[in-house]
Amino acid sequence: MEKNIVVLTSGGDAPGMNACIRAVVRTAIYHGFKVYGVERGYQGMIEGLFTPMDSSSVSNIIQRGGTIIKTARCKEFETVEGRRLAFENLQMNHIEGVIAIGGNGTYAGAAQFYKEFSFPIIGAPGTIDNDLYGTDYTIGYDTAINTALDAIDKIRDTADSFDRTFFVEVMGRDSGFIAMDVGLAGGAEAILVPELHNELDHLIGILQSGWGRKKGSQLIVVAEGDDEGGVYEVVKKIKKYIPSLDPRMVVLGHIQRGGSPTARDRVLASRLGAAAVMAIMEGKENIAVGIVNDQINYVSLEEAINLKKPVKEGLLKLAAMLST
Ligand code: F6P
Repeated sequence: MEKNIVVLTSGGDAPGMNACIRAVVRTAIYHGFKVYGVERGYQGMIEGLFTPMDSSSVSNIIQRGGTIIKTARCKEFETVEGRRLAFENLQMNHIEGVIAIGGNGTYAGAAQFYKEFSFPIIGAPGTIDNDLYGTDYTIGYDTAINTALDAIDKIRDTADSFDRTFFVEVMGRDSGFIAMDVGLAGGAEAILVPELHNELDHLIGILQSGWGRKKGSQLIVVAEGDDEGGVYEVVKKIKKYIPSLDPRMVVLGHIQRGGSPTARDRVLASRLGAAAVMAIMEGKENIAVGIVNDQINYVSLEEAINLKKPVKEGLLKLAAMLST
């Protein structure tokens, strides 16, 4: 039962995407499929940029960050005309299934595409944000938190030498997973996340109590999507209450998206890439693959988009208690 399938990466790149592409390509070939790589995500589907991939196309990439087939955030795919062009290209090339590796935006595009054309499409969770329902972890998250943690440890050295307060912004447009884990692991005095509101009073209390106890340095981790704003905005607001505050602000930014994937991300990506191909083999469509409690898990693309994976609020309390 030979099938032609395509694999693409879309949205923010994440370390481990290459390992996932490798797993898709090699699993597909192993089972007698033909597999094509789509360049630049949905944009490539619209432009018909399909490149046949063989086993050697994915040699020596498991350890590489980024994505060898490139990625994009494609505005045209948000239009019905764009999606129709993509559908026509897939039909013209006799493609029978799409594996889309990406985050929320990628899944939203996939779900809409399936709704309109009933074309088999499987999502694999590739985003450093870890904010997808239906999987305990997303590909790239583990690498990103370790990259951020390495930076935070270095910041702590200089913060401590000067007895300074630092505000460090980590990625996470809509979610605080990165902030929570690196905050706890980096011994942060406080962590600000988009999922919780009205955190400023609490933060001011923590800072003042730290100074009261003659704490030298203090380090606050802020998720970029926090409703108080990023680090610059948060500091501006706090200075209204504590004008003498002379902190330093660091935005870690895209450094968190790069680098060689950790072992955990490579294993996760390999398992999920293979599971996505198996899903197509089993005739599944319109689903996202994930791993929950170490078992392969499937949810519909709609569930993956609409249901919220909760952050563990207990970790915030734990971080606060352990940093006193
Ligand atoms: O979705 C992953 C992510 O890294 C978010 O954490 C961040 O807000 C966003 O992508 C940045 O996107 P871009 O690289 O397009 O600026």
